[in-house]
Amino acid sequence: MSGKSGLDCDGSVLCGRPVLAGKISEVAEVAGYLWQKGWAERNGGNITVNITDIVDDGIRSMCPVSEVKSIGAVLPNLKGCYFFCKGTNRRMRDLAGRPMENGSIIRITDDCAGYEIVADKPVLPTSELPSHLSVHNYLIGKGSPYKASLHTHPIELVALTHSGKFLEKDVATKLLWSMIPETKAFCPRGLGMVPYMLPGSVALADATIKAIDDDYDVVMWEKHGVFAVDNDIMAAFDQVDVLNKAAQIYEAGRNMGFEPEGMSDAEMSELTKAFNLPK
Ligand code: 13P
Ligand code: ZN
Repeated sequence: MSGKSGLDCDGSVLCGRPVLAGKISEVAEVAGYLWQKGWAERNGGNITVNITDIVDDGIRSMCPVSEVKSIGAVLPNLKGCYFFCKGTNRRMRDLAGRPMENGSIIRITDDCAGYEIVADKPVLPTSELPSHLSVHNYLIGKGSPYKASLHTHPIELVALTHSGKFLEKDVATKLLWSMIPETKAFCPRGLGMVPYMLPGSVALADATIKAIDDDYDVVMWEKHGVFAVDNDIMAAFDQVDVLNKAAQIYEAGRNMGFEPEGMSDAEMSELTKAFNLPK
């Protein structure tokens, strides 16, 4: 079977696995949105999804299609886990159309220090794998239901991080929440900040966990992009989307020549109570 969805059955692990195919199709849908938003130049951004609980014995017994590769860290909570990952140097717009040609399913090795690719093709996972897998390791350790992590380059949010004042704790959070009520309602933990670090580094992975552990679902990588976690990839995308919308409103006001007023503290706390928000 083949179709316009790009989830062609021929030889694919998705064949006869509608639940897994649905998950990958959701990743492809989000990849398309990232491209349409202008947040995914060239190979920019990456997605990983923990698919361990929808992997069956057939997949567990599959022979790898790659040699074992090192993660660069030992992540004990990932023992026996499987992830779908965007491929490194692969385009989001290509992932949208042909997810299994531009991404792959990996299995974590028993020593929790490496992985092997099991399907469909030996597409090497994203260079940001240390951050993605370290965060999944952290989430499992906390008993979190979150299964998806997203890194992308949203223009207006990245622009904010080029000003030192927005890097201070919760300055950007407060500003963005106050631009339009939905922002606080749908990104209720706000926006953490991670100082600039080399893309793909273990140092960036460690700093990302530290920021997420400070009770954020979305963190900024200074002068680079955002990293978001949520139950599934659509929800992670939604959090980034509402934050970037707020940044656009702020920047539109500035472009009209004034400093946007923002909602008042009283209006913000009314919202917090009405929606029973955590912060
Ligand atoms: P990859 O193509 O390796 O996923 O890298 C893209 C990126 O955004 C790095 O930060
Ligand atoms: Zn990036």
